[in-house]
Amino acid sequence: MSDAFNPENFKLELTVTPKDLADLLRITPQALHKFLKEHDIDTKVGNTRFHKIRPHQVRKIIEIRGLSYPNMVIDLHNVKGGVGKSTCTHALATRAAAWGAKVLMVDLDQQANLTSSFGIHGHPNQFPTILDIHKGMFKGREVQIRDAILELNDNLHLIPSNLGMANIDTIMSMDSELNVGAFFDLMFGTLRNEYDFIFFDSPPALSKLTTAAHLYSDLILMPVEPDKFSIDGLELNFETIFRLKQRFGTESETKIFINKYDARPKIDFLIASELAKTDYAENMCESAVRYASGLKAAIAEGKCVWNADKKNPALEDLNSLFLEISGLDEKWNSKAETVDETTRPTSSEAGRAEEASL
Ligand SMILES: Nc1ncnc2c1ncn2[C@@H]1O[C@H](COP(=O)(O)OP(=O)(O)OP(=O)(O)O)[C@@H](O)[C@H]1O
Ligand SMILES: [Mg+2]
Repeated sequence: MSDAFNPENFKLELTVTPKDLADLLRITPQALHKFLKEHDIDTKVGNTRFHKIRPHQVRKIIEIRGLSYPNMVIDLHNVKGGVGKSTCTHALATRAAAWGAKVLMVDLDQQANLTSSFGIHGHPNQFPTILDIHKGMFKGREVQIRDAILELNDNLHLIPSNLGMANIDTIMSMDSELNVGAFFDLMFGTLRNEYDFIFFDSPPALSKLTTAAHLYSDLILMPVEPDKFSIDGLELNFETIFRLKQRFGTESETKIFINKYDARPKIDFLIASELAKTDYAENMCESAVRYASGLKAAIAEGKCVWNADKKNPALEDLNSLFLEISGLDEKWNSKAETVDETTRPTSSEAGRAEEASL
C-alpha cells in the first residue's frame, strides 16, 4: 500500500437504488423488497424512509439468485486525445463497483487524469506505478503489483499513475527480451482472477504500453466524439488493432461509442448517422453518452460522477453503456428466468406500488 494514500481519509460510497436493481433484475420494487426482507438484507438509510443498496448487498443478492459477474478486461483507448477515455473509465468502473463487482482500474497515462479524477494527486516517486512494477524497484525497495494497488473502497481498487510514467515506453524499448504480448500476463499473474473487471485507461498514443494493454484485454472500448476528425482517426485505430490481431492471434472485441453527444446541433446527428453507415457500423454500441457539463465539473473537482450530481443526464447513458458492454443485463436476465420464481412479480404485487418506501 502506498504511503501517499490514506484509506482512512478517503471515503467513496457507491450505491444503487432499489429501483435500479429491480429494473435490472426485471422484478418489481415490491418483489425486491420482499426478497430483501426474506434474506435479512437491511438497505435503509439511517432512520429515514429511503433505501440504498450497497455493493456488498448487491453482490449478496446476485449470489443468492445464482448469478455471477464476468471476468473481463476492458481497455479504453483511442489515439485521439480528449475524447473521454479517462472520464468514461472513471464512470464505468465506479458503476461496475456499485453493481457489486470487484473492480481494478489501471491508469496507464502519464497525465494521470484517471487518478486525479478521484482527487488523488501524486508527484513522481510518491506512489508506485506500472513503470515501477515493471522495474521491480521503488525508492530502493523491491515492489510487486500488489504494492501499487490503492484500495479506494472494498470493491474499487486503483493502480495510479503520475508524470514518472512518461518514460515507460523508452524503458520497455530498451529491454530486448521484453515480450509485449505477455507484459501484463507476467505482471498481473493470478491477480486477474481476483477481479470481475479490470479497466485500463490508456494514453492517446500507439506505443508498446498501449499494445500490451490491447493484447491483455477482452474488449477495446473506443469513445469517439461526433466530429469528423474523430471519425477519420478510427481508421488508424482499427488498422493497428487488425495488425495486432494478425500478429498475435488475439480474440479481443472492439467497440465504439459516441461520447459528448448533443442532439441539438444537427451535425451531431448527421455524423452519428454517417458512422452507422461505415465499415465500423458493426462495432458501434447502441448506447451513446450525452454531453453533460456536470460530468466535466465532477471530474475536474475529483468527485465521483455518480455522487456529484444525481440529475446529470449522462449517468443514465453511462449505466446503459456499462450494461451493454459488460453483457450483465443479458447474463443476469437469461439465468434469472430459470432461477428464482419466488421473486417474480405477481399481478397483485405489481399493483400494490409502494414506491415511496423503496
Ligand atoms: N460526456 C461528456 N460530457 C461533457 N464533458 C465530457 C464528457 N466526456 C468527457 N468530457 C470532458 O472532456 C474532457 C476530456 O475528457 P477525458 O480527459 O476523459 O478525455 P481523454 O480521452 O481521456 O483525454 P486524453 O486523450 O488527454 O487522455 C474533460 O474535460 C472531460 O471532463
Ligand atoms: Mg485520458
